[in-house]
Amino acid sequence: MGNQFLGNQNFNISNQTVTAICPSNIALIKYWGKYANQIPANPSISYTLNHCNTQTSIEFLANEPFSVQTFLAGNEEVKFAEKIEKYFKNIEQYLPWILKGKYIIKTENTFPHSSGIASSASGFGAIASCLMELDKTFSSEIRDASFEIKKASFLARLGSGSACRSLYNGLVVWGKTDEVEGSSDLFAVKYPDSEIHPIFKNFNDWVLLIHEGQKTVSSTVGHGLMNTNPYAERRFQEARENFVPLKQILKTGDLQNFIKLVEHEALTLHAMMMMSEPAFILMKTGTLEVINKLWKFREETGHPLFFTLDAGANVHLLFPENVSSETIKNFIETELLQHTQKGGVVKDVMRF
Ligand code: DP6
Repeated sequence: MGNQFLGNQNFNISNQTVTAICPSNIALIKYWGKYANQIPANPSISYTLNHCNTQTSIEFLANEPFSVQTFLAGNEEVKFAEKIEKYFKNIEQYLPWILKGKYIIKTENTFPHSSGIASSASGFGAIASCLMELDKTFSSEIRDASFEIKKASFLARLGSGSACRSLYNGLVVWGKTDEVEGSSDLFAVKYPDSEIHPIFKNFNDWVLLIHEGQKTVSSTVGHGLMNTNPYAERRFQEARENFVPLKQILKTGDLQNFIKLVEHEALTLHAMMMMSEPAFILMKTGTLEVINKLWKFREETGHPLFFTLDAGANVHLLFPENVSSETIKNFIETELLQHTQKGGVVKDVMRF
């Protein structure tokens, strides 16, 4: 699968250091459930974030025995290195030089490590970008920029599914859907900016750090539990169907229906976890308190503050930057921040 991305056997390796920065992303229609080779069970769409990102440098020492050493914020991470070694072995057919050297990988996140903000999307996005940079140096063929980014997205996906969406700004789609031209299960594509109403282009995402620390169930295990979830097929179908109204919503600037769809997706994701066997719950008391207060605020004021969740307890508070955003920001500071573990909030915006 992905023959167009098979690597060229003509390469000339040398010692190199390359760097890349890759942002994180937050899904609106969620990817939850996958098949072999990181093929998603349904299409997903995300916003790319502006502030939350990973910076990675890779030092490649050519012709040394293959090994990987990784450092996260200056500390050596042996477990992460094992994961990357496995990943590099897995993508050899796409980068035939990849096992012919030693790697020293240094990575830093702009968000706190323990925050529960997923670092795998920005992390694998940054590694894939570095690998494409090395590939460009080692192989003599001329390639256009759009192919480079597509292959980076393809490679990032093989590291972590959601990572393939982090290679583009704006709204990004991964997974084949008739609603988005050029969409694919193998890599992400940018949702056309011209099809997005201005209201969705100046958007805040304030992440409330409800619970800092390790999650009880990893995303990878969570995806696996969809294999036996009796509601899985219906869920995958619903995600596919949600692209139809979403397209219209994005075009017309229909904020009310956007809110409805995005919150429904977030709650469905967590409902799937609760209906897995064994069941698990990643929301915490604070998550529910924030959701209930937010709903009450929206009902009373009509201000467009809403939420999404990823596979964890943190709440992503979404709201457009417009006349009501000052009131919303005040409400968050005075009423919602108290439900975080340590007053933690990451104030981000969507990156266009
Ligand atoms: C809930 O991309 O972290 O954030 O492919 O196993 O690495 P792997 O999973 P991952 O799953 C992300 C799940 C999600 C929804 C989403 O980002 O679409």
